[in-house]
Amino acid sequence: MRTYLVTGGAGFIGSNYIHYMLKKYGEEIRIINVDVLTYAGNLENLKDVENLPNYTFVKADITDKDAISRIFAENDIDRVVHFAAESHVDRSIRNPEVFVKTNVLGTAVMLNCAKAAWEQPDGSFAPGKKFLHVSTDEVYGSLSEPDTFFYETTPYDPHSPYSASKAGSDMLVKSYMDTYKFPANITNCSNNYGPYQFPEKLIPLIINNALQGKKLPVYGDGKNVRDWLYVMDHAKAIDMVQEKGKLFETYNIGGHNEKENIRIVEIILETLQDMLSDEDPRKALVTKDLITYVEDRKGHDRRYAIAPDKIKADLGWEPETMFEEGIRLTIQWFFENEEWMKNVTSGDYQKYYEEMYQ
Ligand code: NAD
Ligand code: DAU
Repeated sequence: MRTYLVTGGAGFIGSNYIHYMLKKYGEEIRIINVDVLTYAGNLENLKDVENLPNYTFVKADITDKDAISRIFAENDIDRVVHFAAESHVDRSIRNPEVFVKTNVLGTAVMLNCAKAAWEQPDGSFAPGKKFLHVSTDEVYGSLSEPDTFFYETTPYDPHSPYSASKAGSDMLVKSYMDTYKFPANITNCSNNYGPYQFPEKLIPLIINNALQGKKLPVYGDGKNVRDWLYVMDHAKAIDMVQEKGKLFETYNIGGHNEKENIRIVEIILETLQDMLSDEDPRKALVTKDLITYVEDRKGHDRRYAIAPDKIKADLGWEPETMFEEGIRLTIQWFFENEEWMKNVTSGDYQKYYEEMYQ
């Protein structure tokens, strides 16, 4: 039975990945989820798996080296899948330091503890051990020319404190691979959307506001472009890189689904109109009049677009969920999980929202 240590598994992508893996492999694998439960971590996301015998939750901070090395000492970990991070660009602009601590120092601690546990007396690493570092396309910066894409060879050019801290973490992983031949892969993925996404991010924020007839804040001219990928397609790609990826390689993961932000907002409104029944009082609220252009994000990257050619050619991965289908699945999930949304938007979220959008 292979043992996975998943960091940040109570967050958006981590919890979807855990669901994907437990569904696919059942009791062939064991998952230890290490998460400190920041505002973005939510054990509700894993309610349906929490009692499984092959799933364990450990509340710990990835910057706490004693706690992390204890987990390695007490368990024979085969794979690390490292999601834990501060992930929201707007928060990084307001409060960069915690991004450096979690994303850079936290990754250094994870690497060091894995290396200490896995390194053999001759300096080699036992076969089958692997560290997968989950990173972002934002490390490549912003594309200004149309029909240009991010490749694995594109030089790093991060602009926000978030992307700079993720770039720093990627560099640390690269340094471990180069210096120690540490068995790792890096994945750089585009924007994800889907169930369990915290409503500070564009898509769940727009769905939640629209259903309440609240303003839909669009930064700047609304023409910034992101490349959207349904989260389960990302989970599948991570599994394929674990299974078939060549050690020391980086793989870009993307949906080939570039859209301007304003178009995303319009599609959500159109889909809500289509999915809400005529009797539902919310149907009358969901109109384009809610769209409100607000002050632009500082240093707002204009366009991201991934070329997923390498992962397609080498591993046979490609996105399976078209945006029209993925957004319906996402909206349907939010319809069925109104309590989840109510819980995560009570308390601190209100304070964040007022400060951010007032
Ligand atoms: P998220 O903010 O939803 O979840 C992050 C999780 O990490 C939370 O559960 C949080 O409690 C945990 N965490 C934060 N600090 C921690 C610490 N010090 N110790 C232990 N746990 C800690 O993030 P997400 O959107 O699921 O992103 C997951 C990873 O994927 C991140 O590394 C992010 O950079 C990367 N990524 C995200 C996207 C996206 O579109 N969301 C795209 C590409 C890559
Ligand atoms: O590209 C991958 C990255 O995607 C991940 O690494 C990050 O963790 C993830 O948060 C995401 O970053 P973005 O900044 O692209 O995502 P966000 O949902 O915050 O914003 C998407 C776009 O929408 C961006 O151009 C800013 C804009 N936006 C966002 C919000 C929250 C708005 O116009 N209004 C808003 O209220």
